Amino acid sequence: MRYGEGPEVLHDIDLTLAQGDFAFLTGPSGAGKSSLLKLMYLREQASRGLISLFGQDTAVLPDANRALIRRRIGVVLQDFALIDHLSVFENVALPLRIHGVRRASYAEDVVEILRWVGLGDRLNSLPPTLSGGEKQRVAIARAVIAKPDLLIADEPTGNVDPEMGARLIRLFAEMNRIGTTVLIATHDLDLIPASARHLIIQDGSLS
Ligand SMILES: Nc1ncnc2c1ncn2[C@@H]1O[C@H](COP(=O)(O)OP(=O)(O)OP(=O)(O)O)[C@@H](O)[C@H]1O
Ligand SMILES: [Mg+2]
Repeated sequence: MRYGEGPEVLHDIDLTLAQGDFAFLTGPSGAGKSSLLKLMYLREQASRGLISLFGQDTAVLPDANRALIRRRIGVVLQDFALIDHLSVFENVALPLRIHGVRRASYAEDVVEILRWVGLGDRLNSLPPTLSGGEKQRVAIARAVIAKPDLLIADEPTGNVDPEMGARLIRLFAEMNRIGTTVLIATHDLDLIPASARHLIIQDGSLS
């Protein structure tokens, strides 16, 4: 993979995530963690090689299938990507609305997940009024609310204290237990459970 005409930032990667994997991706800053995740949630395309998701070759996907695949993936981005003019509640509810779920049936779930990440009293706040760690927790709640088949999280604990970091990893582990395949990029080696799969990337290649 390369960005535009730039140098290759990922090469010789041979990786299969199995359904049900709980995997962590680590490596130095600039090694290619975010780039690899971008390929996996269809934000970028590989300049050569094969990327398949849920058994489908992503290079030849009709737009409709691409959208369907994208809906099966929950993503926590390094910069959160919240919608500033929507409340915390509405940001988290968005994936469910996209799935066509009616408000009456999702309202309770949205409140429950926001309580779980410690934001039960910020339902009506707008993202620009939140701290970095609070925004991060909204992004995580939004990524897990629709129980995605695949959860991709880029530095999801980078802005919270160690206790909240451990709590968020427990949330991901619980998602994994009920069937979500999880891939988390992190610099925080202490957060990685001994039982998890650990992938290490260096200079654009997995070691
Ligand atoms: N949008 C972009 N355009 C051009 N080059 C980019 C872009 N994003 C990343 N890169 C380059 O790709 C390489 C890998 O970057 P990437 O963001 O994947 O690293 P990372 O492992 O996620 O780093 P960090 O730990 O700092 O988040 C770096 O050399 C970076 O400069
Ligand atoms: Mg990154």
